[in-house]
Amino acid sequence: MSEVPQVVWHQSSVGTEERNRRLGQRGCVLWFTGLSGSGKSTIANAVERKLFDRGAYTYLLDGDNVRHGLCATPQILASIHGESFAKRFGLGFGPEDREENIRRVGAVTQLFASAGLICLTAFVSPYKRDRDRVRDVVTGEHGLPFIEVFVNTPLEICMQRDPKGLYRKAIAGEIPNFTGISDPYEPPTSAELELAGSGALPDALADEVIAFLIARRLISSET
Ligand code: ADX
Repeated sequence: MSEVPQVVWHQSSVGTEERNRRLGQRGCVLWFTGLSGSGKSTIANAVERKLFDRGAYTYLLDGDNVRHGLCATPQILASIHGESFAKRFGLGFGPEDREENIRRVGAVTQLFASAGLICLTAFVSPYKRDRDRVRDVVTGEHGLPFIEVFVNTPLEICMQRDPKGLYRKAIAGEIPNFTGISDPYEPPTSAELELAGSGALPDALADEVIAFLIARRLISSET
Protein backbone atom coordinates (compact mmCIF):
# COMPACT_ATOMS: atom_id res chain seq x y z
CA MET A 1 0.00 0.00 0.00
CA SER A 2 1.71 3.23 -1.09
CA GLU A 3 1.95 6.01 1.50
CA VAL A 4 0.02 9.20 0.86
CA PRO A 5 0.46 11.55 3.85
CA GLN A 6 -3.12 12.85 3.90
CA VAL A 7 -4.74 9.41 3.47
CA VAL A 8 -3.80 6.82 6.08
CA TRP A 9 -4.86 3.19 6.29
CA HIS A 10 -6.87 2.29 9.40
CA GLN A 11 -6.60 -1.25 10.62
CA SER A 12 -10.05 -2.78 11.11
CA SER A 13 -10.79 -3.95 14.67
CA VAL A 14 -12.57 -7.04 13.27
CA GLY A 15 -10.33 -9.22 11.12
CA THR A 16 -11.19 -11.28 8.05
CA GLU A 17 -10.43 -14.53 9.90
CA GLU A 18 -12.97 -13.63 12.63
CA ARG A 19 -15.57 -12.77 10.01
CA ASN A 20 -14.92 -16.02 8.16
CA ARG A 21 -15.33 -18.00 11.39
CA ARG A 22 -18.62 -16.25 12.16
CA LEU A 23 -19.98 -17.05 8.69
CA GLY A 24 -18.51 -20.54 8.58
CA GLN A 25 -16.94 -20.02 5.18
CA ARG A 26 -13.92 -18.47 3.52
CA GLY A 27 -14.36 -15.14 1.73
CA CYS A 28 -13.01 -15.33 -1.81
CA VAL A 29 -13.39 -13.94 -5.34
CA LEU A 30 -14.70 -15.96 -8.29
CA TRP A 31 -13.82 -13.86 -11.34
CA PHE A 32 -15.62 -14.94 -14.53
CA THR A 33 -14.14 -13.57 -17.77
CA GLY A 34 -15.07 -14.14 -21.40
CA LEU A 35 -16.56 -12.61 -24.51
CA SER A 36 -19.94 -10.92 -24.54
CA GLY A 37 -22.45 -13.75 -25.05
CA SER A 38 -20.03 -16.40 -23.76
CA GLY A 39 -22.36 -17.30 -20.89
CA LYS A 40 -20.52 -15.65 -17.99
CA SER A 41 -23.57 -14.06 -16.40
CA THR A 42 -25.76 -17.13 -16.84
CA ILE A 43 -23.16 -19.50 -15.39
CA ALA A 44 -22.19 -17.12 -12.57
CA ASN A 45 -25.88 -16.76 -11.67
CA ALA A 46 -26.29 -20.53 -11.64
CA VAL A 47 -23.21 -20.90 -9.43
CA GLU A 48 -24.49 -18.25 -7.04
CA ARG A 49 -27.89 -19.97 -6.82
CA LYS A 50 -26.22 -23.30 -6.02
CA LEU A 51 -23.93 -21.73 -3.40
CA PHE A 52 -26.81 -19.84 -1.81
CA ASP A 53 -28.95 -22.98 -1.67
CA ARG A 54 -26.05 -24.77 0.08
CA GLY A 55 -26.17 -22.10 2.77
CA ALA A 56 -23.25 -19.94 1.61
CA TYR A 57 -23.18 -16.14 1.83
CA THR A 58 -22.58 -14.76 -1.67
CA TYR A 59 -22.84 -11.70 -3.85
CA LEU A 60 -22.68 -11.45 -7.64
CA LEU A 61 -21.44 -8.32 -9.37
CA ASP A 62 -22.60 -8.37 -12.99
CA GLY A 63 -21.12 -6.09 -15.66
CA ASP A 64 -24.40 -4.88 -17.09
CA ASN A 65 -25.81 -4.12 -13.62
CA VAL A 66 -22.67 -2.44 -12.28
CA ARG A 67 -22.66 -0.14 -15.31
CA HIS A 68 -25.98 1.28 -14.05
CA GLY A 69 -24.52 2.43 -10.73
CA LEU A 70 -20.97 2.15 -9.45
CA CYS A 71 -19.57 2.30 -12.99
CA ALA A 72 -22.42 4.17 -14.66
CA THR A 73 -22.12 5.26 -18.26
CA PRO A 74 -21.75 8.98 -19.09
CA GLN A 75 -25.32 8.93 -20.46
CA ILE A 76 -26.75 7.75 -17.13
CA LEU A 77 -24.71 10.24 -15.10
CA ALA A 78 -25.44 13.24 -17.32
CA SER A 79 -29.14 13.40 -16.46
CA ILE A 80 -28.47 13.77 -12.72
CA HIS A 81 -24.97 15.23 -12.43
CA GLY A 82 -24.55 17.22 -15.63
CA GLU A 83 -22.33 16.91 -18.68
CA SER A 84 -18.89 17.77 -17.28
CA PHE A 85 -19.27 15.40 -14.31
CA ALA A 86 -20.54 12.65 -16.64
CA LYS A 87 -17.57 13.17 -18.94
CA ARG A 88 -15.11 12.89 -16.06
CA PHE A 89 -16.58 9.96 -14.11
CA GLY A 90 -18.82 8.05 -16.54
CA LEU A 91 -17.35 4.88 -18.01
CA GLY A 92 -17.66 3.64 -21.59
CA PHE A 93 -15.72 0.92 -23.41
CA GLY A 94 -12.44 2.57 -24.39
CA PRO A 95 -9.32 0.88 -22.96
CA GLU A 96 -8.93 3.30 -20.03
CA ASP A 97 -12.64 3.20 -19.22
CA ARG A 98 -12.50 -0.60 -19.04
CA GLU A 99 -9.34 -0.37 -16.94
CA GLU A 100 -11.16 1.87 -14.46
CA ASN A 101 -14.29 -0.34 -14.56
CA ILE A 102 -12.25 -3.39 -13.61
CA ARG A 103 -10.17 -1.47 -11.04
CA ARG A 104 -13.31 -0.25 -9.23
CA VAL A 105 -14.95 -3.65 -9.37
CA GLY A 106 -11.73 -5.29 -8.21
CA ALA A 107 -11.63 -2.98 -5.19
CA VAL A 108 -15.24 -3.90 -4.38
CA THR A 109 -14.54 -7.63 -4.65
CA GLN A 110 -11.68 -7.19 -2.19
CA LEU A 111 -14.05 -5.49 0.26
CA PHE A 112 -16.78 -8.13 -0.13
CA ALA A 113 -14.33 -11.03 0.16
CA SER A 114 -12.74 -9.37 3.23
CA ALA A 115 -16.24 -9.22 4.71
CA GLY A 116 -16.34 -13.02 4.36
CA LEU A 117 -18.54 -13.27 1.26
CA ILE A 118 -18.02 -15.46 -1.75
CA CYS A 119 -17.96 -12.66 -4.30
CA LEU A 120 -18.68 -13.63 -7.91
CA THR A 121 -18.15 -11.30 -10.86
CA ALA A 122 -19.19 -11.47 -14.52
CA PHE A 123 -17.29 -8.91 -16.60
CA VAL A 124 -15.87 -9.23 -20.09
CA SER A 125 -12.60 -7.95 -18.53
CA PRO A 126 -10.76 -8.44 -21.83
CA TYR A 127 -7.33 -7.16 -20.82
CA LYS A 128 -4.98 -9.51 -19.02
CA ARG A 129 -3.15 -6.71 -17.24
CA ASP A 130 -6.38 -5.42 -15.64
CA ARG A 131 -7.38 -8.89 -14.42
CA ASP A 132 -3.88 -9.55 -13.08
CA ARG A 133 -3.95 -6.29 -11.16
CA VAL A 134 -7.19 -7.32 -9.45
CA ARG A 135 -5.63 -10.68 -8.63
CA ASP A 136 -2.64 -8.90 -7.07
CA VAL A 137 -4.85 -6.63 -4.94
CA VAL A 138 -7.04 -9.51 -3.76
CA THR A 139 -4.34 -12.12 -3.13
CA GLY A 140 -1.21 -10.07 -2.52
CA GLU A 141 -2.23 -7.13 -0.41
CA HIS A 142 -5.16 -8.83 1.28
CA GLY A 143 -4.30 -12.54 1.16
CA LEU A 144 -7.71 -13.64 -0.15
CA PRO A 145 -8.28 -16.48 -2.63
CA PHE A 146 -8.85 -15.35 -6.24
CA ILE A 147 -10.21 -17.84 -8.74
CA GLU A 148 -10.20 -16.76 -12.35
CA VAL A 149 -12.82 -18.67 -14.37
CA PHE A 150 -12.34 -18.42 -18.13
CA VAL A 151 -15.63 -19.00 -19.95
CA ASN A 152 -14.11 -20.12 -23.22
CA THR A 153 -16.81 -19.90 -25.86
CA PRO A 154 -15.67 -19.48 -29.48
CA LEU A 155 -16.35 -16.06 -30.96
CA GLU A 156 -18.42 -17.65 -33.77
CA ILE A 157 -20.79 -19.18 -31.19
CA CYS A 158 -21.09 -15.87 -29.30
CA MET A 159 -21.88 -14.16 -32.60
CA GLN A 160 -24.54 -16.75 -33.43
CA ARG A 161 -26.10 -16.37 -29.98
CA ASP A 162 -25.89 -12.57 -30.04
CA PRO A 163 -28.44 -12.30 -27.19
CA LYS A 164 -28.44 -8.49 -27.13
CA GLY A 165 -27.97 -7.94 -30.88
CA LEU A 166 -24.67 -6.19 -30.12
CA TYR A 167 -22.46 -8.24 -32.49
CA ARG A 168 -24.74 -7.38 -35.38
CA LYS A 169 -24.45 -3.69 -34.53
CA ALA A 170 -20.68 -3.92 -33.95
CA ILE A 171 -20.16 -5.57 -37.34
CA ALA A 172 -22.27 -2.84 -38.92
CA GLY A 173 -19.87 -0.31 -37.36
CA GLU A 174 -22.49 1.05 -34.96
CA ILE A 175 -20.59 0.10 -31.75
CA PRO A 176 -16.89 1.05 -31.56
CA ASN A 177 -14.30 -0.91 -29.53
CA PHE A 178 -16.45 -4.03 -29.46
CA THR A 179 -14.62 -6.97 -27.87
CA GLY A 180 -13.88 -9.70 -30.41
CA ILE A 181 -14.80 -7.48 -33.37
CA SER A 182 -12.91 -4.21 -33.12
CA ASP A 183 -11.17 -4.63 -29.78
CA PRO A 184 -9.08 -7.57 -28.52
CA TYR A 185 -9.94 -10.24 -25.98
CA GLU A 186 -6.77 -11.44 -24.26
CA PRO A 187 -7.47 -15.01 -23.01
CA PRO A 188 -6.18 -15.90 -19.56
CA THR A 189 -2.94 -17.88 -19.57
CA SER A 190 -3.22 -19.19 -16.01
CA ALA A 191 -6.90 -19.26 -15.10
CA GLU A 192 -7.67 -21.53 -12.17
CA LEU A 193 -10.59 -22.95 -14.13
CA GLU A 194 -11.55 -23.02 -17.80
CA LEU A 195 -15.08 -23.87 -18.89
CA ALA A 196 -15.96 -24.94 -22.42
CA GLY A 197 -18.80 -22.46 -22.72
CA SER A 198 -20.45 -24.19 -25.66
CA GLY A 199 -19.71 -27.73 -24.47
CA ALA A 200 -22.44 -28.18 -21.88
CA LEU A 201 -25.52 -26.52 -20.46
CA PRO A 202 -24.99 -23.68 -17.95
CA ASP A 203 -26.21 -25.84 -15.06
CA ALA A 204 -23.58 -28.51 -15.77
CA LEU A 205 -20.87 -25.85 -16.12
CA ALA A 206 -21.97 -24.38 -12.79
CA ASP A 207 -21.58 -27.86 -11.26
CA GLU A 208 -17.98 -27.90 -12.54
CA VAL A 209 -17.34 -24.68 -10.63
CA ILE A 210 -18.91 -26.10 -7.44
CA ALA A 211 -16.80 -29.27 -7.76
CA PHE A 212 -13.69 -27.12 -8.16
CA LEU A 213 -14.53 -25.11 -5.03
CA ILE A 214 -15.01 -28.31 -3.04
CA ALA A 215 -11.74 -29.79 -4.35
CA ARG A 216 -9.90 -26.60 -3.36
CA ARG A 217 -11.64 -26.70 0.05
CA LEU A 218 -13.11 -23.26 -0.48
CA ILE A 219 -16.51 -24.70 0.36
CA SER A 220 -17.34 -27.88 2.22
CA SER A 221 -18.72 -30.92 0.42
CA GLU A 222 -21.48 -31.26 3.04
CA THR A 223 -23.24 -27.91 2.75
S1 ADX B 1 -15.63 -4.69 -19.53
O1 ADX B 1 -14.84 -4.86 -20.75
O2 ADX B 1 -15.50 -3.35 -18.97
O3 ADX B 1 -15.33 -5.76 -18.55
P1 ADX B 1 -18.43 -5.18 -19.11
O4 ADX B 1 -18.45 -6.60 -18.68
O5 ADX B 1 -18.57 -4.12 -18.07
O6 ADX B 1 -17.13 -4.90 -20.03
O7 ADX B 1 -19.57 -4.96 -20.23
C1 ADX B 1 -20.94 -5.12 -19.90
C2 ADX B 1 -21.75 -5.43 -21.14
O8 ADX B 1 -21.71 -4.33 -22.04
C3 ADX B 1 -21.23 -6.58 -21.97
O9 ADX B 1 -21.80 -7.78 -21.48
C4 ADX B 1 -21.69 -6.29 -23.37
O10 ADX B 1 -22.87 -6.98 -23.68
C5 ADX B 1 -21.99 -4.80 -23.37
N1 ADX B 1 -21.14 -3.99 -24.27
C6 ADX B 1 -21.52 -2.79 -24.78
N2 ADX B 1 -20.54 -2.27 -25.53
C7 ADX B 1 -19.51 -3.15 -25.51
C8 ADX B 1 -18.20 -3.16 -26.11
N3 ADX B 1 -17.77 -2.15 -26.86
N4 ADX B 1 -17.41 -4.22 -25.88
C9 ADX B 1 -17.84 -5.25 -25.10
N5 ADX B 1 -19.05 -5.30 -24.52
C10 ADX B 1 -19.89 -4.24 -24.70
